[in-house]
Amino acid sequence: MRKKWIVGNWKMHGNLASNRALIEGIRARLPEPAESVGMVVCPAFPYVFQLDELLNETGIALGAQNASDHLQGAYTGETSPLMLKELGCKYVIIGHSERRYHQHENDGLMGRKSLAAIDAGLVPIICVGETAEERDAGRTQEVLARQLDAAFGYIRTAHDKIIIAYEPRWAIGTGIAATPEIVQTEHAFLRQRIAQRDAAFAADLPILYGGGLKAANAKTLFSMPDVDGGLIGSAALNAEEFVGIYKAAVALSAGDKA
Ligand code: PGA
Repeated sequence: MRKKWIVGNWKMHGNLASNRALIEGIRARLPEPAESVGMVVCPAFPYVFQLDELLNETGIALGAQNASDHLQGAYTGETSPLMLKELGCKYVIIGHSERRYHQHENDGLMGRKSLAAIDAGLVPIICVGETAEERDAGRTQEVLARQLDAAFGYIRTAHDKIIIAYEPRWAIGTGIAATPEIVQTEHAFLRQRIAQRDAAFAADLPILYGGGLKAANAKTLFSMPDVDGGLIGSAALNAEEFVGIYKAAVALSAGDKA
């Protein structure tokens, strides 16, 4: 059975006091994270250093929300994945749809960033997903295939470690997740496409769902066979919700299928 992952994407939220309160709230509700489910939180860049301290010996791993496609150099305003690694990050979200939309990031850049992250020793959480218009036009799998192929132009399945996150843009920030059937269909499509390159790699690959995840819908979504956890935005800012989502994953990994 693949390990499940619960990843909190804090986006551009938080400050020193609220970050501390949020981690204390999570820890109060979850003294010890389970072995079977990984928990990762991804604060905004300025707070990575603070979170590394707050997460010390908690069993909760640290991630970032973005990184440069370069390891160092004259790139004003950019952050090297090597710097993130030095500050305690183990994971980094790459190609989130908000970056594609607001910062005009494209598939090629996502591929290069994924490779730079891997070269720095981080695990990229590579986001793919279609817009509402693309889904309505029946182009979802064409878009997913294009995004995936761009990333896999750089990834070496023989030894690279990655996580994929399927996040349909139309579900993000709405509080309403895609249906379990849609999620399972697209996750299975992603896994099959990767299996054409490397079947063993695809079989072991964690594919997370993101978009409107909350404690109330987590168990049904996580019980789909190709869903290996979630990438959580709004609900990750609420300790009770975030731990509720985590506990749904733990219950399933203990064999309690919904
Ligand atoms: P949401 O965001 O959980 O608020 O829908 C998910 C994401 O953007 O990663």
